[in-house]
Amino acid sequence: MEEFKKLVANSIYIALDKKVNEDEIIEKVEIPKDKGNGDFAYPCFNLAKVFRNSPVNIANDLKSKISIGNGIVKVEAVNGFLNFFVDNSSISSDILKRIITENKNYGSTNIGNNENVVIDYSSPNIAKPFHLGHFRNTVIGSAIYRLYKELGYNIIGINHIGDWGRQFGLLIEGYNRYKDEYDIEKDPLNSLSDIYVRINNLAKEDEKVMDAAREQFKKLEQGDKELLKMWEYFREISLKEYDRIYDILGCKFDSYNGEAFYNDKMDEVIDILTKKNVLVDSQGAKVVEVGNNMPPCIVLKSNGSTIYATRDLAAILYRARTYDFVKAIYITGSEQILHFRQVFEVAKYLVDEKYQKGLVHVPYGMVRLKTGRMSTREGNIIYINDLINDAIKKSKKIIEEKNTEDIDKEKLAQQIGVGALVFNYLKSNKLKDIIFDLDETLRFDGETGPYVQYTYVRIKSLLKKAGFDLDNINFDNVKFDLLNNKSEIELIKELEKFPNIILKAATEYEPSILTRYIIDIATLFSKFYNECQVLNCDNKDLKLARCILSYATGIVIKKGLYILGVECPDKM
Ligand code: ARG
Repeated sequence: MEEFKKLVANSIYIALDKKVNEDEIIEKVEIPKDKGNGDFAYPCFNLAKVFRNSPVNIANDLKSKISIGNGIVKVEAVNGFLNFFVDNSSISSDILKRIITENKNYGSTNIGNNENVVIDYSSPNIAKPFHLGHFRNTVIGSAIYRLYKELGYNIIGINHIGDWGRQFGLLIEGYNRYKDEYDIEKDPLNSLSDIYVRINNLAKEDEKVMDAAREQFKKLEQGDKELLKMWEYFREISLKEYDRIYDILGCKFDSYNGEAFYNDKMDEVIDILTKKNVLVDSQGAKVVEVGNNMPPCIVLKSNGSTIYATRDLAAILYRARTYDFVKAIYITGSEQILHFRQVFEVAKYLVDEKYQKGLVHVPYGMVRLKTGRMSTREGNIIYINDLINDAIKKSKKIIEEKNTEDIDKEKLAQQIGVGALVFNYLKSNKLKDIIFDLDETLRFDGETGPYVQYTYVRIKSLLKKAGFDLDNINFDNVKFDLLNNKSEIELIKELEKFPNIILKAATEYEPSILTRYIIDIATLFSKFYNECQVLNCDNKDLKLARCILSYATGIVIKKGLYILGVECPDKM
């Protein structure tokens, strides 16, 4: 389509005697919603001033000057628009051949030039539950990871684990009190979360408990060997469990350097800020003014201790040096928008401008359960393990009801259950709050993961039944011009957008652009399949062309789902 757009633009450029810049023409060329208005349209309104004539006259005049041929079959002048009709068969053969030859690489580019992009994502807090919000973080980050990989960047995934801070005082205090009630090794995340929730509630009622927790954290900070060992133990068993979740989700991290990693790297930050004379006293605390109507960024609290922001500053310095990134992307809940605006502003005193300009915060909205806002502290939360297990269990039930074929039901249930969760999370615009409903997520109809997976499986089985064999096809003999049904053309045109969709989703840090696109592809495929006979098509040439279209659709769905982090079963 892009090729044709250029062709159309070029014909206008020539008809205008090259008096208007060709790139400007390309930008103005649109794809009309109504097919009756052609495949491309060019509005002549902006030319009225230049040529001192009415758009209607200009359009009529241009129409007579544009030569037919070379893919353009008809031009019409309508109300100041120039409507172009192009030869769909050459569009179709172009696109479908390209998808099939490029196969897994269709949609990939190398605009990233192998430069480094850091993605800081998932980043749960040890001791606190890995909740629906972190799950959203993980799937968004993972999708952005793969989107940038498709663009040819070298990605460094960092899990900035929350493994330091006052909550460790609480956890240690809670652990000492309650550890005998739990089988921690067996179920580390739930046990630690539970202990944390209990002790936190207790500390709220009893100031003495809070004091004890503070004392524990202070000892930990001062390097108490016993407590450090305990801290390491919590960290280790939690990481092991997170990894299990990451494995299921197919996401990758190159580093698990969390907040504690920066404990010995913050002095340098303080030094630099002090030397640059930007660290000022404010009610006992040390802060940096950041302007733009924002409160100052606190770097040291009045008791001299560092905070979350201090560690993030140290991380920026470290990452610029270690990874020499062109972009460092941070995924967190939208409640941290101010935090990152402040920290990124302070970063200008720490790193070169090129690094500071590469810092990007990608916030996402809240996840609610039907019952209201989930809170880490009070414990009205769904644990991620339970959620995944539930989704798998429910999928298995659905499969068992539907299916008698001998397939690996365990594996399929995991592909469907997990896929449904991921897809659901990536379907909404990232800033939108979502209300989570597992049953809705698992539906086989509607805009769900299972629906798209099912579309892919249908394509597979259709091709099998048709005896479709790619190796025996000579593309030069395929009659692509037979694909002229409206639903066929719509599907082909949509398939052509895939590379641009990847680019757009990556540049806007918005995986939902890709998710919605995959839904559109699945919907257009179903429409095509309803309207056009494939298996029972009498015309052998048309049947083959339709199989090729189906095959290409399968490639795009599979690759799109892969980028989103959703597996594609072959049967279901
Ligand atoms: N652990 C934090 C949280 O759960 C997110 C950390 C994000 N990354 C960062 N570099 N601050 O909210």
